[in-house]
Amino acid sequence: MFQRERVEIKTADQIRLMRRAGLVTAEGLRAMGAAIRPGATTAELDRIGRRVLAEHGARSNFLDYGADWGYPPYPGVACISVNEVVVHGIPGGRVLEEGDIVSIDFGAIVDGWHGDAARTFPVGEVDGASRALSKATRRSMWDGIARIRVGARVGDVSHGVEASLRSHERPYGILREYTGHGIGTAMHQPPDVPNYGRPGKGPRIVAGMCLCVEPMATLGGEDVAELDDGWTVVTCDSSRAAHWENTVAVLPDGLWVLTEPDGGRAELEARGVPFASLD
Ligand code: MF3
Ligand code: CO
Repeated sequence: MFQRERVEIKTADQIRLMRRAGLVTAEGLRAMGAAIRPGATTAELDRIGRRVLAEHGARSNFLDYGADWGYPPYPGVACISVNEVVVHGIPGGRVLEEGDIVSIDFGAIVDGWHGDAARTFPVGEVDGASRALSKATRRSMWDGIARIRVGARVGDVSHGVEASLRSHERPYGILREYTGHGIGTAMHQPPDVPNYGRPGKGPRIVAGMCLCVEPMATLGGEDVAELDDGWTVVTCDSSRAAHWENTVAVLPDGLWVLTEPDGGRAELEARGVPFASLD
C-alpha cells in the first residue's frame, strides 16, 4: 500500500512545521495520560485529545482514517488500547480499572504536517510483569531510534528494536503484522519500519527523512486478531500488550525526536547518539 509512493524528504522549514505537530501530539498524550484513573472511560480520554487539538488549531489524522479506501472510518482522535488490546482500541464506554495498562496512540496535523506517537500508562498500581513489559517496550523504541543515522539502513533500526526486546530473560511477543512507517504530509508513508529485521538490509536512511518507530510487544505470544468492528486488535492468548511510538526527524548531524518535549535529548545522549534540533 505504501511502497508505490516515494520516500518524502523534508526541508528544514518543513521539519520545523512537523515539530509543531509533534509538540501538539506530545501535549495530547500528556493531558490524556494525566486523566487516567480507575473509573475513567476511554471516551473521556478521547475527548481530552479533541480538546488539545482544538486548543492548538490542529486537526486529527486518526479521525475518519480508512474512509478513503472504503474501510470503516476510524471514529476517534486517539486509539486507546487496554490490557489485551494491542492497538487501534476504539474509545468508548470501557471503564479503566486499577491495575490495567492503557496504550494511547495519538496524532495531530498542523499546517498539513503530521505527528504520531504512543505511550503505555499504568492505571494505579500495576503488577510487576505489566510494568516490565511497558518498560521493555519503551526501551526497545529508544534502542531502535538510536540506530537511526544518515547512511544506516531501516533494517538496522528494526534489528535494534528486536534485539532490545529479546535481551530480557523473559521472552516478549513482538508483533509482526503492524510496523512503524515514514511520516510527513501523510501519517503513513514509505518506508515501513518493522520491529524485527536484519542489520544492513532495507532502504537507506538519508537526511530529511522522518520515521515513526513503534514497537508493540506482549507478555505472551505474537498472534493477534482483529475484532468485528474492523479496528480493535487483540492478542489471541489474551496476554497484555504495550505500545510506544515516537516521530523522529533525521537531520544531517543528529536526530530530533519531534514528539518528545525535550526533542529526545536525554534518551539519545544516554545512548551516545547526537541530538540535533532546528530551534
Ligand atoms: N497512529 C497509528 C500508527 O501508529 C495508526 C492509527 S490508525 C487510526 O501508525 F485509524 F487510528 F488512525
Ligand atoms: Co504510527
